[in-house]
Amino acid sequence: MDKKNIERREFLKRAAVSAGVGLTLPTGHVLGANDRVRLGIIGPGARGQELMKQALALPNVAFTAAADVYTRRRDEAKAMIPTAKIYADHRKLLDSKDVDAVILATPLHCHARHFMDTVAAGKDLYCEKTMTYSVEEAEVCRAAASRSKQVITIGLQHQSGGALADAKKWIKDGALGKVTHVEAWMSRNTPRGKGQWVRPIPADCNAANVNWKAFLNGRKDRPFDPNRFINWRLFWDYSGGNVTENMVHQIAWIMRALDLPVPTAAFMSGGVFLEKDGREVPDTIAVTLDFPNDLVVTWQSTFSNSHFGSGVRLLGSHGTIERLAGATDMVTGRSRTGIRYFPEKINRPDGAAQTGESKDQNHMADFVDAVRTHRTPNAPVEIGYRSAIAAHLANLSYLRRQRVTLASVLEAARH
Ligand SMILES: NC(=O)c1ccc[n+]([C@@H]2O[C@H](COP(=O)([O-])OP(=O)(O)OC[C@H]3O[C@@H](n4cnc5c(N)ncnc54)[C@H](O)[C@@H]3O)[C@@H](O)[C@H]2O)c1
Repeated sequence: MDKKNIERREFLKRAAVSAGVGLTLPTGHVLGANDRVRLGIIGPGARGQELMKQALALPNVAFTAAADVYTRRRDEAKAMIPTAKIYADHRKLLDSKDVDAVILATPLHCHARHFMDTVAAGKDLYCEKTMTYSVEEAEVCRAAASRSKQVITIGLQHQSGGALADAKKWIKDGALGKVTHVEAWMSRNTPRGKGQWVRPIPADCNAANVNWKAFLNGRKDRPFDPNRFINWRLFWDYSGGNVTENMVHQIAWIMRALDLPVPTAAFMSGGVFLEKDGREVPDTIAVTLDFPNDLVVTWQSTFSNSHFGSGVRLLGSHGTIERLAGATDMVTGRSRTGIRYFPEKINRPDGAAQTGESKDQNHMADFVDAVRTHRTPNAPVEIGYRSAIAAHLANLSYLRRQRVTLASVLEAARH
């Protein structure tokens, strides 16, 4: 076994222990329906600061703490929430009695550690997607969550979208018939020479201002590398590429709409074809996911063309549900968004086309309300787990250059 695997196995062992400890701890301050919710954030970076703004816009919410390994991010957090305590180590934040719930927006390879530590500390949790970095971590985190009393949501905000409510209603009414294929895609473009996701490195991003070891979180030891720290999305040690950045949102939506379990197998091809800028994760991707009960889901993604935006089509014998985000209408040239239903007249002669009208819910408000009322939020751990498994199987297939089955991956994880 290589060093990386040994370190990962060590994490899983430690994680299992800390989850057990969590069971014996009090779950902390129990909130009432009108109580102020006191939040702490781990990783107030780009996404973390967006989430802070969303939470600060809600009534009766306060940030009491933030933790980050980078001085710049700590300073930015302090400027946004001047009365909060600012920590360099997330464990100090978790020790604080002034934090009821934690928002977690660190890079993917840190999610499981921060998830497990938060559960063990008895705090509620908003964990950014993808829930975990690997199948093994997904198993451990789900098990810990199911043994805890905490409210946990995953940052899969489309789970709070009106389009999901529309799709579920149409499907419940039998409008789709038998669905054997779902197609989904996601596409973006950038000026040639500037790769997708590449961020400039701030002048103060150096070894003195970043706790590099804490960032590495057990990944391969190497000298401080500001590019890896800022552009962690491009490297396998910290990221799952576009499958964990974006497919996860769409696959979670499809899974929830059709009430799907985890996939049984995955195949993924593609490569770094566009900007050969040192990135490791592919910019061009085609994924096939097999599900029980005769269903194949395909997902494709490119960073070299944005014409069709992103979308999902649920293809049924009795009708189609199409959800578009930014696809360009070929006739008018206008960008189309929203969710629509089209009947298949050969099997549903009386069916009528429909346009979805349900309003989006605010995903952050849903979490805060769930914390106050101790109810299940819109994106519970189970959908975080299932969508994470789909993403991890796809990446394993890409890295092994072969089709992988969930059964074989779980079998290997147990040994
Ligand atoms: N739901 C969405 O639509 C959405 C959108 C964007 C990003 N995200 C997710 O948000 C997460 C963060 O993405 P980002 O673009 O904000 O990245 P980022 O690099 O801008 O922010 C990550 C922050 O975590 C800090 N950090 C790194 N290691 C840490 C550690 N061990 N302890 C404490 N802090 C640490 C970094 O200093 C940085 O401030 C990712 O999981 C990403 O997938 C979700």
